[in-house]
Amino acid sequence: MFNSYKIALIPGDGTGPEVIKEGVKVVETAAKKNNFRIDFINYDLGGKRYLKTGEILPDSVIEEFKKFSAIYLGAIGHPEVKPGILEKGILLRLRFELDQYINLRPVKLYPNVETPLKDKEAEDIDMIIVRENTEGLYTGSGGFLKKDTLQEVAIQESINTRFGVERCIRYAFELTKKRGKNNKLTLCGKTNVLTYASDLWQRTFNIVAKEYTKIKGDYVNVDAACMWIVKNPEWFDVIVTDNLFGDIITDLAAIIQGGMGVAAGGNINPEGVSMFEPMGGSAPKYTGLNVINPIAAISAGTMMLETIGELKAAKDIDNAVIKALKSGKIKSMSAGKTGLSTTKIGDLIASYI
Ligand code: IPM
Ligand code: MN
Repeated sequence: MFNSYKIALIPGDGTGPEVIKEGVKVVETAAKKNNFRIDFINYDLGGKRYLKTGEILPDSVIEEFKKFSAIYLGAIGHPEVKPGILEKGILLRLRFELDQYINLRPVKLYPNVETPLKDKEAEDIDMIIVRENTEGLYTGSGGFLKKDTLQEVAIQESINTRFGVERCIRYAFELTKKRGKNNKLTLCGKTNVLTYASDLWQRTFNIVAKEYTKIKGDYVNVDAACMWIVKNPEWFDVIVTDNLFGDIITDLAAIIQGGMGVAAGGNINPEGVSMFEPMGGSAPKYTGLNVINPIAAISAGTMMLETIGELKAAKDIDNAVIKALKSGKIKSMSAGKTGLSTTKIGDLIASYI
C-alpha cells in the first residue's frame, strides 16, 4: 500500500495559476518517484469569482478544506477589487478558521541567487522566521468612533493571549531544537514601548526557555532587527515574533534571499490543515506572460510535503531546485529576467527529480 493525499488547490489570481501549475508538476513528479499519490482538487476562489458571482469564500468550502491533507495556494488579489476584501475574506479568514497559528518563512540564499547584500554568501543567509499568524493586530478588533467627521477616532487593537503567544513560542523552540543549526532562538518585539504586549511575549518566552536549556535565547527590538537582518544576517538562526512585526520582517528577509521569485511560506496548524504559498502575490502586470519565476511556488510545495510527512520527496525537490540553480540556466530570480519561461523552469526542476 502506498500513501495517498488529497490537496485543495487554489490557483487564485494573476500569475498564481501559472506558478502553481509548475508547483503541481514538480510535486507530482516527486510523488511518483517516491511512490505516493496526490490528488489535487481545484477551487476557483479569488478575484475573478468574486467579480462574477459576489462570492468570496463560502462556509461550505471551509468545511471541505478541513478534510484535506493541505491547501496549496497560488496568489490572491485582483486590481479591480478594493484592497482588503479578498485578503481578509479569503487568506486571513482561512488562517483564522483553520487555526493556522504559525506563519513559517524559511529564509535561505540558494546558489547562484543574487542577494542585494554586499559580501554576503549562502552560508550567511539561512534563518527561519516564525510569525504568529492568528492574533496581534490582525484580529480585526477595534472600530471607528464619529466616522467621517473631523473628530473621527480609529482604534486598531493588538490582541495577544497567553495561550496564543505560548503555543507560537513553543513551536519556535521545538523548531530550533529540531533544526539543530546554531540552537539559537531570537525573540523579536518592542519591549521598550509596547510594555503590555511585548512584555507578555518576553515573560512567556522566558518561562518556556527554562524547558530548553540547550537553546540560547536572544532578544531584539523589531526596529533593530531591520538593521541586523541586513547588516549581519548570519547572527540569526530562528526568529519568533508577532503577527505584524512578522509580516514586515519577512518581506525584508525575502529580499535578502533573492526576492519574491524564491520566497515561500506556510500557514501552519501543527494539529490540523496547513496552507502553503509563494510570497510573490498575484503580480497583475506579468499575468499570462509566462515570465514569473515559479521557484517560490515549487518551494512552497516542498514545505507542504515536509509538513504532511513526505520528507524524502521534499528533499528531492529541494535538491532539484538547487541543481537547477547551479546549472546556470536560470539567469535571474526576477520576473521577466529569468532567461527561461515559467514553464521551462518547472520542466527543468522536474527533470532533476
Ligand atoms: C503575507 C501577506 C498578507 C499579510 C496580506 C496579503 C494580507 O502580506 O502573507 O505576508 O499581511 O499577512
Ligand atoms: Mn506580508
